[in-house]
Amino acid sequence: MDRRTLLCGLLALTACGTGGATRRPGAGSARPGDRVAALADVPVGSGALVDVGADGRLLLVRPSESEVRAFDPACPHQGTAVNPPTAGVITCPTHRSAFDPSSGAVLSGPSPKGLAEVAVTVSGGDVLLA
Ligand code: FES
Repeated sequence: MDRRTLLCGLLALTACGTGGATRRPGAGSARPGDRVAALADVPVGSGALVDVGADGRLLLVRPSESEVRAFDPACPHQGTAVNPPTAGVITCPTHRSAFDPSSGAVLSGPSPKGLAEVAVTVSGGDVLLA
């Protein structure tokens, strides 16, 4: 096998392996436009952990009636799923790291960084992956 044949084979495998979609942390294999939750299932002033498709999980937070944000719920410290916000703070139940629900930024450790945000939109009564 020459270099050209090998390179073409590697490029084909790469394209097949991803299916052309960009995976988002927490969203699993879900694609843009996929419904992740009913808006009514995300309480205003708090949030909800939702399963997304066959292999994803997101933390949805709803700071106001019309605004929803989504984060990969895996705590950057050791991967525990964080809890929906209470009293304005997202908390990890394992070692009590605290995160800002408006940005996912870490407020107190031991987490070394904030939660990864995943873009979502609200359409009608649904929350969709953006
Ligand atoms: S796993 Fe979240 S703070 Fe340790």
